[in-house]
Amino acid sequence: MEPPAFHPCDEAVISTNDDASNCKRSAVKLGYWKDDFLSYFVRSPDRKAPEINRGYYARVKGIEMCIEKFFKKTGDKCQIINLGCGFDTLYWRLRESGHMISNFVEMDFPTVTAKKCYMIKRNKILLEKIHVEDGEVRLSSTDLHSTNYHIVGVDLRNIDEVAVKLQQSEVDFSIPTIFLAECVLVYIELPNSNNLLKWFAGNFQSAAFVNYEQVNMNDRFGEVMLNNLRQRGCSLAGVEACVSLETQISRFLNCNWHGARAWDMVQIYHSIPAAERARIERIEMLDEAELLMQLFQHYCISVAWIGDLFQDIEITVEKRLSSLNID
Ligand SMILES: C[S@@+](CC[C@H](N)C(=O)[O-])C[C@H]1O[C@@H](n2cnc3c(N)ncnc32)[C@H](O)[C@@H]1O
Repeated sequence: MEPPAFHPCDEAVISTNDDASNCKRSAVKLGYWKDDFLSYFVRSPDRKAPEINRGYYARVKGIEMCIEKFFKKTGDKCQIINLGCGFDTLYWRLRESGHMISNFVEMDFPTVTAKKCYMIKRNKILLEKIHVEDGEVRLSSTDLHSTNYHIVGVDLRNIDEVAVKLQQSEVDFSIPTIFLAECVLVYIELPNSNNLLKWFAGNFQSAAFVNYEQVNMNDRFGEVMLNNLRQRGCSLAGVEACVSLETQISRFLNCNWHGARAWDMVQIYHSIPAAERARIERIEMLDEAELLMQLFQHYCISVAWIGDLFQDIEITVEKRLSSLNID
């Protein structure tokens, strides 16, 4: 398959990682969740609006809840493949909480992985956590390989390159594998992301895919979001899959995944234990409760699976959804 040419829009897509990392750092600094590692990648964040902090909290917490559900099935004998990883710190947070999974692979454009490799290389605490006794750490300017942590620079639209990088990262196609894509597929043209999903479905025996991104993009709010991004030089090339929860599900089924479910972020937020929600709702007064509700309605988490290990994944949503428990 012909490798796609670098698109002028790729620069803008790459810079979305800076936005995401900054927003996460802003929320972490205020105590929304604990991340002892993000500050090594993002030094001094601008303070973000309360709605943004709360939105990122729901995103990170929602993904964490899905991963915990998978761990209950697999224990640590599983792999995570973090697509468009940006500066995500999940590997280090898992190590901190005592998990040592079989393999963890991160993929992003080489521009992003080069920065992440550089920061890992010069930080003792980050390095310590990827270093396993007697294991070696191999580094190039864009890729890093250790015993069970790998980060590789690759364009996810190029399947042949993805296949080579997975092989270099010693991925085992037979053990349970969790794919993560947090605001990534939406930046990739649908035929390209479909090829990727089909390739995963054809090559992994037991897998789950956790996908966080936009939904309900056909309404006025979605239109404004799209226009804002276009003005910043970034089109959402894969937005066709983000029309509804149904389109989010069918994109996986059409790519030979065995099943899929999807929840908008209103539902995900209400599946977070009430005491934990109450804790974060005390952190900041919300100026724009309506805006937060709209944001939650325009993002979702989908989970798809291959094989039967993950098919009973469910998110338990509190019955009363009429408010977001906002004072
Ligand atoms: C919004 S950021 C999210 C980063 C991270 N997943 C997070 O949530 O913190 C989107 C990431 O996807 C990456 N990305 C988008 N399209 C990609 C492609 N075709 N190949 C590799 N990475 C891609 C970008 O470089 C960027 O780091």
